[in-house]
Amino acid sequence: MRRKIVAGNWKMNGTLDDAIKLTSEIAGMYKDEINSDVQVVLSPPFPFLNSVSKLTNNTAIKVAAQNCAAQASGAFTGEVSASMITSCGAGYVILGHSERRTYFSDTDEVLLLKVRQALLNGLQVIFCIGETKAERESNSHFDCVEKQILNVLSQLTPDEFAKCIVAYEPVWAIGTGLTASPAQVQEMHHFIREVLKKQFGEQASETSILYGGSCNENNAKELFALPDVDGGLIGGASLKSRSFISIIKSF
Ligand code: 13P
Repeated sequence: MRRKIVAGNWKMNGTLDDAIKLTSEIAGMYKDEINSDVQVVLSPPFPFLNSVSKLTNNTAIKVAAQNCAAQASGAFTGEVSASMITSCGAGYVILGHSERRTYFSDTDEVLLLKVRQALLNGLQVIFCIGETKAERESNSHFDCVEKQILNVLSQLTPDEFAKCIVAYEPVWAIGTGLTASPAQVQEMHHFIREVLKKQFGEQASETSILYGGSCNENNAKELFALPDVDGGLIGGASLKSRSFISIIKSF
């Protein structure tokens, strides 16, 4: 079923104490103020996954990792496997984020392996795609996004794809304060759904497609009202409990 989802990507911010405080604040406000069908997901750094999972255990809030290894286990110093993430209580993993693609060589080939590891270990995947500023300016943004889909998501079986959520994050909008316009967002989300339909047919109507990139409490309402937008992947604004709760309430 196509779900409304608001996910907070905390990236590499804060300490364990900060993570506990933020989670407790969000869980408290969520209990008091949120009465909706929006799935809320928190994505802390790896070392805090278990604590955040325990703190949200008796709530409807779910937990995501920000990455996972392409391998199942073994001599890969510093890596974190999908099974480790599952064992820490997380149910989701963000894969393909532009920061991973840009700084950590997460190519489409590597990402397909990571997605498969995640799915094998029962994680739902929030798969990020999006074009750079140069790609948009040269009018190749549709080609870029289509290629990112074809190389990874289109390689999955329908059952595997059913466990995937797509996040459209134009790189030029991430952390810049420049939000894509509602017209740009709807145009791209519709395009993404059409590309997915070519492979998966009507199943793609059930896929949640989130928007990410300087989404905040001031613009979320307008973005979430768009027909092909099913929620948001929130960076900076997810680090402030009040802002994050306001975004959830924007639906
Ligand atoms: P910002 O909301 O800080 O622009 O980050 C978006 C993002 O990268 C979420 O994954």
